[in-house]
Amino acid sequence: MKPIEDYVVSIPDFPEPGIIFRDVTSVLQDAEGLHLAIDLMQEKLEGLDFDVVVGPESRGFIFGVPIAYNLKKPFIPIRKKGKLPRETVSAEYELEYGTATIEMHKDAIKPGQRVVIIDDLIATGGTNEAMIHLIEGLGGKVVKTVFLMELAGLHGRDRLQGYDIDSVIVYP
Ligand code: PRP
Ligand code: ADE
Repeated sequence: MKPIEDYVVSIPDFPEPGIIFRDVTSVLQDAEGLHLAIDLMQEKLEGLDFDVVVGPESRGFIFGVPIAYNLKKPFIPIRKKGKLPRETVSAEYELEYGTATIEMHKDAIKPGQRVVIIDDLIATGGTNEAMIHLIEGLGGKVVKTVFLMELAGLHGRDRLQGYDIDSVIVYP
């Protein structure tokens, strides 16, 4: 089996000049790549005591649901603005390219619950910071975030100091 890094195709200048896009679909479209990615992310949670998995639309869903299913935990989707039908909490944030607003159902996290966040990639860390804001606002405790890929050069970790952040692949 190839190392996980070899399944990721990098596309220069997508979606804007100057961005190197790390394409997770190239991992997913290979059965071994998909297995390896989920297994390696899940390994990062071994021995951790937690109650729920939270993942952001859309790429966070791809990895969050199978990991929650395997570990018999519930999965809480965080969605882009206007998609969730019941009462929500929301946060606006900046991305590597553009801005966005995310929402989560207000009853999704109970006070004191221990939360793991799963996502495909950390760039600026803005999405993760906004998710932490929503989860903590409802009284949850974020015990760890696991990413498949980390773009270390964008220093996303700097805005997440004090939080346990772990990534399977780190790009300089
Ligand atoms: C991407 C990616 C992360 C986020 C990382 O999602 O899946 O969630 O950006 O960027 P950040 O660390 O700078 O916040 P995106 O918002 O592009 O949505 P998508 O998954 O629907 O493509
Ligand atoms: N999301 C934000 N920045 C990204 C990048 N460079 N590649 C893939 N997804 C991203």
